[in-house]
Amino acid sequence: MIASTACAAGKGAPENSYDEFAIAQMERIVLDLKAMYRERNDALREVTRAHHDALLRLSRAAEYRDDDTGVHIVRIGFLSEALALMLGEGKTFARLLRNAAPMHDVGKIGIPDHVLKKPGALTPDERAVMNRHPEIGAEILGRSRIPLFQLAAEVALCHHERWDGTGYPRGLAGDAIPLSARIVAVADFCDALTMDRCYRDAFTPAQALDMLSAQRGKAFDPRVVDRFIAKADELFALRARIDAAPPSHDELLMAA
Ligand SMILES: [Fe+2]
Ligand SMILES: [Fe+2]
Repeated sequence: MIASTACAAGKGAPENSYDEFAIAQMERIVLDLKAMYRERNDALREVTRAHHDALLRLSRAAEYRDDDTGVHIVRIGFLSEALALMLGEGKTFARLLRNAAPMHDVGKIGIPDHVLKKPGALTPDERAVMNRHPEIGAEILGRSRIPLFQLAAEVALCHHERWDGTGYPRGLAGDAIPLSARIVAVADFCDALTMDRCYRDAFTPAQALDMLSAQRGKAFDPRVVDRFIAKADELFALRARIDAAPPSHDELLMAA
């Protein structure tokens, strides 16, 4: 009897301590995995921020070549994001578009000054040179596996395509034009019209909306135009907020 009791106790004790050991081991593994997961996410966030940082600096460089202060490209990003959300697109796409849209004219880096900064009308040859900026932009940004750069390349290549197929560089029409570029084209058009240029004063929001609706189904996707017009108050208020307090480079990175 004694032997069998001792045997039972002897069997039970190692099993219990083995269980405790296994549980402790498992808990350690779970904690290690959690820590690794956190580190991996932090690293991914850092990489994403680095991509955005590089893109932001590149778009600043492009903007310096143009006749603007740099706030235009920031506004284009936020307006495109808001418009994408208003069209029912997901938050991930909208946010990516906010960061990609400012790059639409990066190809102007490759356009010579005598064309880019010419005060008067361009000759047909100069126009042909100027119209290469979407392809140059796509070349600068393209052939990347980074989703942000891929979307930025798509926007840069297609932002001068027109809904009616008479745009450039490929003469795409309708839905063949990526939605990203259809959204950025409308945001760019409205934002550019409502800012002062060296050759003209800013148009009022009402004038810009008239000009936008005149291009409905011609230059621009009717659905995007309708959405912009329906939400114009909100969009112009967003634009004014950015103008009143333009986010710094670091703030833009934090929001990426
Ligand atoms: Fe452009
Ligand atoms: Fe622009």
